[in-house]
Amino acid sequence: MDLLTLAIETSCDETSVAVIKNGREVLSNIISSQIDTHKRFGGVVPEIASRKHIESINNIIQESLDKADLEFKDIDLVGVTRGPGLVGALLVGISSAKALAYGLNKPLIGVNHIEGHICANYLTHEDLEPPFTCLIVSGGHSYLIHANGYIDYELMGRTRDDAAGEAFDKVARALGIAYPGGPVIDKLSQKGNPQAIDFPRVFLEEGSYDFSFSGLKTAVLNYINGQKQKGKEIVVEDVAASFQAAVLDVLVDKTFRLAKEKGSKKIVIAGGVAANKGLRSMMERRGQDEGIKIFYPSKVLCTDNAAMIGSAAYYNYINGKESELGFTVEPNLSLE
Ligand code: KG4
Ligand code: ZN
Repeated sequence: MDLLTLAIETSCDETSVAVIKNGREVLSNIISSQIDTHKRFGGVVPEIASRKHIESINNIIQESLDKADLEFKDIDLVGVTRGPGLVGALLVGISSAKALAYGLNKPLIGVNHIEGHICANYLTHEDLEPPFTCLIVSGGHSYLIHANGYIDYELMGRTRDDAAGEAFDKVARALGIAYPGGPVIDKLSQKGNPQAIDFPRVFLEEGSYDFSFSGLKTAVLNYINGQKQKGKEIVVEDVAASFQAAVLDVLVDKTFRLAKEKGSKKIVIAGGVAANKGLRSMMERRGQDEGIKIFYPSKVLCTDNAAMIGSAAYYNYINGKESELGFTVEPNLSLE
């Protein structure tokens, strides 16, 4: 029998509600972005995010059901992001999900947002199954993991400072590009020379799967300031391409090293930065050379959305992980 999951995501600045069939098929995925409201502040303002979620959540739940041509009584399972994220923003989604689960008398699953990003791949690739090596790179997180099973992850590396997407956004800001600058850096890079400026590749200790991007970010800021002080021109496309190449060299190298160590024939990428064209093509080129297949979500499923939360809720549920109605937000939740 089919299992229909209604999922809610409100961890940051997107209010999103989706209906997912059997953890794999998207029946609806409504995403209401607040980005235009936050843009003028140069980043997400937590108080404003919470208020906007409250204003729109009920309408978006209804819109999502309508789009899927379903009613509340058709829903079998409720999933919601329980963390990591902004505490006030998360609370709006969790309160709504609890009310729904209680009112409909259906099971509830509190989902780890990072696990959601991984599961976005199950929605795009219907035959994808674990085990695989996975790189998760978003605005708030950078993890390198090995997935042994659907809800069984070995955490192998993480960022020690800035997340990959955060580094993109901060470099973009220094170049005068509005938040979130990652997609713009991606576009500019396609027109620039990645070898124009020799920015550092930070690999850390030998054998480490951790990342560090703050040194690279500082090197880019120093370069920009240095050029300005000398009255020299800054070729924005070259700065973008050289910075992006420095990030991607490290991400791709460490991911393939882990895949090799684990004997993986599949590499999965996830999170907002998985939308990056340069990352996708560098992964695919190396994958062809090394006989490893590369998977990434469709663009809309790379950045925050409720569909990925619905898939993760489904795999947690069928593996016996139901949440109590009294569970609470976990703003600093990790993958372990
Ligand atoms: O996964 P996500 O929506 O939010 C978090 O859970 O953090 O990721 C958003 C991040 C932002 O930092 C954004 O700049 C970055 O993903 N991003 C990109 C691209 N598209 C989004 N970074 C580089 N290239 C892109 N094409
Ligand atoms: Zn995210």
